[in-house]
Amino acid sequence: MRSGDSSETAHLTARARAADAVVVPDRRLLGDTYAHLFVTVPPPVTSEEALDRLQRLDRAHGGFIAEILLRQRYFEDLVALAVDAGIRQVLLLGAGYDTTALRFTGAEGVRFFEVDHPATQAAKLQTLAAAGLGTDAVTSVPLDFTADASLRDALTAHGFDHAAPCVVGWLGVTFFLPAQACRATFADLADAVAPGSLLLFDYMDESVVNGTSRYEGALAMARQVAEQGEPYVNGLTPQSAADTARAAGFEPLEQLRVPDLVRRYGGDEPYCSDDDFMGLVTARRELSGSDQ
Ligand SMILES: C[S@@+](CC[C@H](N)C(=O)[O-])C[C@H]1O[C@@H](n2cnc3c(N)ncnc32)[C@H](O)[C@@H]1O
Repeated sequence: MRSGDSSETAHLTARARAADAVVVPDRRLLGDTYAHLFVTVPPPVTSEEALDRLQRLDRAHGGFIAEILLRQRYFEDLVALAVDAGIRQVLLLGAGYDTTALRFTGAEGVRFFEVDHPATQAAKLQTLAAAGLGTDAVTSVPLDFTADASLRDALTAHGFDHAAPCVVGWLGVTFFLPAQACRATFADLADAVAPGSLLLFDYMDESVVNGTSRYEGALAMARQVAEQGEPYVNGLTPQSAADTARAAGFEPLEQLRVPDLVRRYGGDEPYCSDDDFMGLVTARRELSGSDQ
């Protein structure tokens, strides 16, 4: 990210979610009713306009619309399952303009911790304040993953309970972090959360980052975000994503690719394509030697 600027790519994901929220219910993929607050381009008014806008973006960058909307859908399902199982802390790493907390209607007493780059977080808080929105259930934790500060310490300072399991969403971030900072954040996270915690993260294929992908739309997006000052710098493969999680103490439980998400959530007539260059990993924090 350009120093001091809020994340442009966080705006981009909010734009897709805001357009999707206008789509008729039987074709909508997510339904983020607050995403429109964070867009810099006015959102479409009718479902037809929204579909037109989303499909145009999808033709240029196939697979992205599906990934952005459906990773979030999957995450919200995971949060619901975790809360049903008794988990009461949700941790978002690189939260951006995520509105899960605002839309959450599950059990009482669930606390959300939103960690993000200070510049993006400040922009989000300003927008929410201007809209008169906000919830006591959310604690904002400013942190730059590429700086030396410890995630564990930052969470401690904001009242996170390290002994109680949580569910973690780390979406749309790993590919923006240098490999070393990404591995360090995995290790930091493992140190910060209790055994039994669940983690969902997504990754970009190495082939997009090194320019050899056969998906032209993905390469075009890589060029676009680089021009905006947020280049993809860290690619993984399904195997290296699982290995990276495991090395930090998270055991992979499920791995999905974009076509899996579209099959699961896209309905009979998905409005977006399923180009296959990104994946999701759900993993569980295992007991380590020092935890036992
Ligand atoms: C593509 S956005 C994704 C936001 C949100 N998770 C979503 O799915 O819409 C990337 C997010 O990563 C955050 N980010 C990027 N680099 C970061 C860093 N070095 N430290 C902390 N956050 C960072 C940005 O501020 C932004 O919120």
